[in-house]
Amino acid sequence: MCQCQEAATSVEENFEYEKVESLLQDYLDKKGVMVPILQAIQEEFGYLPRPALEYVAKRLRIPVSKVFGVATFYAQFHLEPRGENIIRLCRGTACHVRGVAKVADKMQEHLGVDVGGTTPDMKFTYEEVACIGACGLAPVMMINDRTFGKLEPDKLKGILEQF
Ligand code: FES
Repeated sequence: MCQCQEAATSVEENFEYEKVESLLQDYLDKKGVMVPILQAIQEEFGYLPRPALEYVAKRLRIPVSKVFGVATFYAQFHLEPRGENIIRLCRGTACHVRGVAKVADKMQEHLGVDVGGTTPDMKFTYEEVACIGACGLAPVMMINDRTFGKLEPDKLKGILEQF
């Protein structure tokens, strides 16, 4: 067995299937429940672990590809663990005009991750989004539910240190 298979097996062996089973209890024998099931799993684990999706497929007696199809269709679902804090930097037009590109470069330099990435310490996940409706503050970002406007590359370090 190659190392990657061993790693995959050990993750599955340690996986908390009983948690998924208990979440499923509210939905078994009902129709159109895939999205609520995935929402419940994501709320429990913070993302959608692969073994959980495989378990759902088995219990609902449907192909695993169908479960993954739903999980990847909706932007609300995440297949990888996410950081404790979610950074959403706006890449909309107003922010673009006000120089968000330089802010984005500096952010990636500080965090050491690309767009969509999570820092190795799991502290931050970095995302870029379209207009977040605060164009007057451009360039702007949100960290969790807090808004930071009139961003400049040199201000980022101080902001990130608040988390
Ligand atoms: S374009 Fe960035 S907030 Fe509107």
